[in-house]
Amino acid sequence: MTALISPATSSERAALTAYRKLLFSRNRDPFPLYAQLREQAPVLRSPLPNLLGGYVLSRHSDCSAALRNRALMPFSEDHLDRLMPNWRTRSASRLGYRSVLFQHQERHFEVRRTINPHFGRSKLAELRGFMTELAQRQVSELAELGASGRVVDLVDAITLPFPLGVICRLFGVDPRAARRFAWSGRTLSCFLEAVQTPALQRRVDEAADELVGFFTEPVRQRRREPGADLLSTLVRAADSGVLDERELLGNLLLLFTAGYDSSISFLGSAIRILLEHPQQAAIVRDDPDAASGAVDELLRYDPPVHMGGRIASQPVCLGGQEVPAGSPVWVLLGSANRDPAYVAEPDTVDVTRGSPSHLAFAAGPHTCVGARLARMEAEVLLPLLLRRFPRMRLAGEPTHRYPGTVLRGVDRLPVVLE
Ligand code: HEM
Repeated sequence: MTALISPATSSERAALTAYRKLLFSRNRDPFPLYAQLREQAPVLRSPLPNLLGGYVLSRHSDCSAALRNRALMPFSEDHLDRLMPNWRTRSASRLGYRSVLFQHQERHFEVRRTINPHFGRSKLAELRGFMTELAQRQVSELAELGASGRVVDLVDAITLPFPLGVICRLFGVDPRAARRFAWSGRTLSCFLEAVQTPALQRRVDEAADELVGFFTEPVRQRRREPGADLLSTLVRAADSGVLDERELLGNLLLLFTAGYDSSISFLGSAIRILLEHPQQAAIVRDDPDAASGAVDELLRYDPPVHMGGRIASQPVCLGGQEVPAGSPVWVLLGSANRDPAYVAEPDTVDVTRGSPSHLAFAAGPHTCVGARLARMEAEVLLPLLLRRFPRMRLAGEPTHRYPGTVLRGVDRLPVVLE
């Protein structure tokens, strides 16, 4: 347990109330709470127990510095034993916490060196043609589904199958078989959520077991007959002793699910935002050079990952405050991206502004492996969709992801195409 600290000032007390709301109520719109945190206690000392205690950073400059600070590390097994006592008995956390996201220094570097080549420029250039064809095919199928003004769920029809198809190609697995487990992968990602009810924990663990089952045969097959795909690279790393068996499964599940889950969320939010801002959508539709800047602005405006957790391995100074060794530190990525000290009029979407140093993919050693891939997916899909369906409109309230604190996005996005 971390030591309980009482908030000292009325601003800190109000900010703590905002932080509790962020964690414990379902917030469709967390941005006003972020603004309150940035104003009232940008480095908030949280007296909440276990992992939720420690320090909460909400300014862009502090979040960016913290992510790059090597004294702040992912939760180690010792920290987890202290702060999340049941983690070893749960399928999802037992594997997830052995993945690259929770490794540090040399070990982290070694695993990144193993997987990075699959996400380098030349691999992605090879993938672009496949991605474009897949997007064109799925957009044509969407046109049939949405004929005669029928309401279509864009998540089911495109923002899920498109990135799933891409990650299956990288892994060399059959997308039709994977489709049966696609929602389990999305549930599994919730092992990263800050607050999980026992029911959610159960679902997350069942999802982990299902996905391990799905990959059992492909892993065996790669052991017999290795290829050039990402799964073969992971299996080879396990067979040559770079990864142990839990690390193999942990990395496999993380890469596979992060590889499409964050993209489902991003593509869904991006389309929703563009449909709510028709002038911005028109720029992406009509200007062939606008897509890349637009993708960064949409990532800035509402990223799929809103929080990242670290532990101070030694005393550090964050935003002018001394943070003792052993304290959890929460970096509010979604808040950093809307900090007026970082970008003017942060609550306005402007796809022409370019948002180069947003933190949607984090920063520092754990910067997202798939950032280029995810950007490319959006650059291919968004203009295609807007050009094919220039009169597409929302046809009801989107269903937001549950619980939606760390990972935000829509699970259902009803639209009419024409
Ligand atoms: C729009 C889509 C995506 C977003 C916004 C996103 C965001 C992030 C963020 C914020 C982190 C760092 C978390 C932290 O430091 O606590 C991260 C890490 C990671 N992401 Fe992504 N991601 C996306 C897509 C992808 C894709 C497509 C893949 C893989 C195919 C991927 C694989 C990973 C992996 C393996 C890590 C761990 C990196 C490490 O610890 O070194 N992500 N992602």
